[in-house]
Amino acid sequence: MTAYQHLRKVLPEHPRSWLITGVAGFIGSNLLETLLKLDQRVVGLDNFATGFRHNLEEVQGLVTPEQWERFTFIEGDIRDPGDCARACQGVEHVLHQAALGSVPRSLADPANTNAANISGFLNMLVAARDARVRSFVYAGSSSTYGDHPALPKVEERIGKPLSPYAVTKYVNELYADVFAGNYGFNTIGLRYFNVFGPRQNPDGAYAAVIPKWTGSLLRGEVVWINGDGETSRDFTYVANAVQANLLAATTANAEAQNAVYNVAVGDRTTLNHLFALLRDNLVEHGVALAATPCYREFRAGDVRHSQADTGKAQRLLGYAPTHRLAAGIGEAMPWYVRNRAV
Ligand SMILES: NC(=O)c1ccc[n+]([C@@H]2O[C@H](COP(=O)([O-])OP(=O)(O)OC[C@H]3O[C@@H](n4cnc5c(N)ncnc54)[C@H](O)[C@@H]3O)[C@@H](O)[C@H]2O)c1
Repeated sequence: MTAYQHLRKVLPEHPRSWLITGVAGFIGSNLLETLLKLDQRVVGLDNFATGFRHNLEEVQGLVTPEQWERFTFIEGDIRDPGDCARACQGVEHVLHQAALGSVPRSLADPANTNAANISGFLNMLVAARDARVRSFVYAGSSSTYGDHPALPKVEERIGKPLSPYAVTKYVNELYADVFAGNYGFNTIGLRYFNVFGPRQNPDGAYAAVIPKWTGSLLRGEVVWINGDGETSRDFTYVANAVQANLLAATTANAEAQNAVYNVAVGDRTTLNHLFALLRDNLVEHGVALAATPCYREFRAGDVRHSQADTGKAQRLLGYAPTHRLAAGIGEAMPWYVRNRAV
């Protein structure tokens, strides 16, 4: 039995109280679904900056009425210290996901990204410390590796950030470390690598590559590849990110505290290969039969290659990813087909 299988067995027997910030977003709503299905009590905080009420409604439809009653939603803003304090009341485990994502958004609007991702993060740290929560896990990012060329990425070797977004995620790690050193408040940061799955927004200028391309293929639109298509990523199905959060929040391993971990699979897939995978998968659903991509210039602020070494999370947290890219796409695709924009 893996550490995660064991945890999924014991949590329903001894339910705990959790706070998920960014609960109406993609990863937040997947955490909510998993925790409610495990009979946990959950408080969720979100201001709907990039999240949606329909994500919460979808989760409601996936759990029992008794499980849904264990969820309390607070519409609020992490930039407001009062909202953070209210959300942390009586909570044991904090999963801090709220932030403004996307490298291009941060280049277009660095000030707002900074306010949510740095001031908001600091407000949450203070509120969680003051509420004496048992654990605090936060969403980091692979963008922290910046211009460091080494592959695979190992937690201790990072380069210079390439975007305002990457700066904010790195500053989170610095603040987290300072809180451990000065207040004895330990946290765990999870550097997510290109997470994808159901409820990831396919629309808008800042959509991530998998939902964006899938949406375009479903509508018969052109798929644009930035650069030559040989840019590569370690695409991570959301179930793996959920697993890492639950293991990190509940770990009894003192050595695992006040640290950051790669959350990925350990594979490297080029954009050209990703395009072929998505198209072939959609062909099975009867669409995208004749699709071919169009190439354009590289995008500013992007790193060229990304692939994680997941050994640290495996060793210290017992992390064992359950889905590689193809399995994740296979599981997510019916959701995209059902939710295609017409
Ligand atoms: N999806 C990925 O591939 C990926 C990769 C690396 C890091 N991350 C990080 O993971 C976290 C979740 O990302 P996601 O992909 O689910 O994005 P998302 O945009 O779907 O979710 C973020 C949620 O945070 C909420 N939010 C934003 N600002 C807020 C504020 N000021 N107050 C309260 N709520 C606020 C949004 O409304 C949204 O519901 C973010 O911290 C993101 O930076 C994601």
